[in-house]
Amino acid sequence: MRKTILITGGAGFIGSHVVRLFVNKYPDYLIVNLDALTYAGNLGNLIDIADAPNYTFVKGDITDERFTADLFRSFSIDGVIHLAAESHVDRSISDPLAFIRTNVFGTANLLNAAKEAWKGDMAEKRFYHISTDEVYGALAFDGTFFTENRKYDPHSPYSASKASSDHFVRAYHDTFGLPVVISNCSNNYGANQFPEKLIPLAIHNIKNNISIPIYGKGENVRDWLWVNDHARAIDVIFHSGNNGETYNIGGNNEWTNIDLIRALCRIMDKKLSREIGTSAQLITFVKDRAGHDLRYAIDSSKLQRELGWEPSLQFEEGLEKTVDWYLDNQNWLENIINGDYQKYYEKQYKER
Ligand code: NAD
Ligand code: DAU
Repeated sequence: MRKTILITGGAGFIGSHVVRLFVNKYPDYLIVNLDALTYAGNLGNLIDIADAPNYTFVKGDITDERFTADLFRSFSIDGVIHLAAESHVDRSISDPLAFIRTNVFGTANLLNAAKEAWKGDMAEKRFYHISTDEVYGALAFDGTFFTENRKYDPHSPYSASKASSDHFVRAYHDTFGLPVVISNCSNNYGANQFPEKLIPLAIHNIKNNISIPIYGKGENVRDWLWVNDHARAIDVIFHSGNNGETYNIGGNNEWTNIDLIRALCRIMDKKLSREIGTSAQLITFVKDRAGHDLRYAIDSSKLQRELGWEPSLQFEEGLEKTVDWYLDNQNWLENIINGDYQKYYEKQYKER
């Protein structure tokens, strides 16, 4: 094996796509997937590569100082792609401290473990921190976009914790010379997203004739990117991005929540052979999210210009692919609803 890459949060939504891409594309890398298997971690996302010779899973918590130090020692890690986080804004409103623990302390702890393990020889090493556009705050309906130079202005405990972690990453670069790179991405959609997030929640509810909760008037705008395109961007930035730099990643694909859900309802009507308009009757406007950011929109021209990445998929096509995946993999959703997904670890690893 030429390199050992630690991917944190690899059992989650985006992390599992990144792990699969790296395991399949780089047979000469050893991919170590470190995940605490919180409610959001699901080894069922990675069944297809679980036995690959260049892949190994380690159950552990990024906030555990001794554990992370030992991990760096025992695996001789060359690069980190750090995705492990508490990721759901609504949960950050009900339990903010969990976000500070994992996203702030956990990231600082990993940075520290990398600094200690790599001191004296940081050449060829890289710590890549995966962040979010939410650190930039909210845009008005004025046609502006988030660039990498935008002032940080987070509003939720989630985005504040991610902003803080970004600052620690830069501080470790500036103070200790740690070779870091950061990317800030817009909303992802696709297979394996936990059904607390808008799109999989709506697909599940439509399928089961349950009301679809739309916060406020549904006028908030998000910039949606297919998760596989995010994983491709992560590959490009990890290998070709410059140390100390930030890259914004986005789909150039803004939708109000209500328009998005109406489009999804139309696709679902067709797929479920329902009369067009049937699923839209499930739309229910509910109390708005506290501190709900109005609009996110990413300017990813730096990444496109400097590293040659661009999104591969039109949204309508991606949304249809996504619906097909959830309808074809109803067991995956059912296992989450009934809690069985948390037994994959026992089944696959504990007895090895
Ligand atoms: P997710 O919630 O689906 O997955 C997070 C993973 O991290 C889970 O597998 C969980 O078990 C693991 N984890 C949580 N706490 C841990 C801990 N203390 N130690 C080890 N593992 C832990 O999240 P996601 O949507 O895949 O997001 C992944 C990363 O990408 C996050 O850092 C998030 O901030 C960022 N991001 C997400 C989006 C998006 O649209 N989902 C967009 C931009 C950036
Ligand atoms: O922008 C990137 C961020 O996108 C990531 O950093 C986060 O980890 C990820 O969760 C996502 O955050 P959002 O809050 O934008 O995603 P969510 O799917 O929770 O909500 C999308 C929009 O839909 C948002 O405006 C809130 C709204 N919404 C959400 C849910 C769950 C509803 O109207 N109803 C709902 O039930």
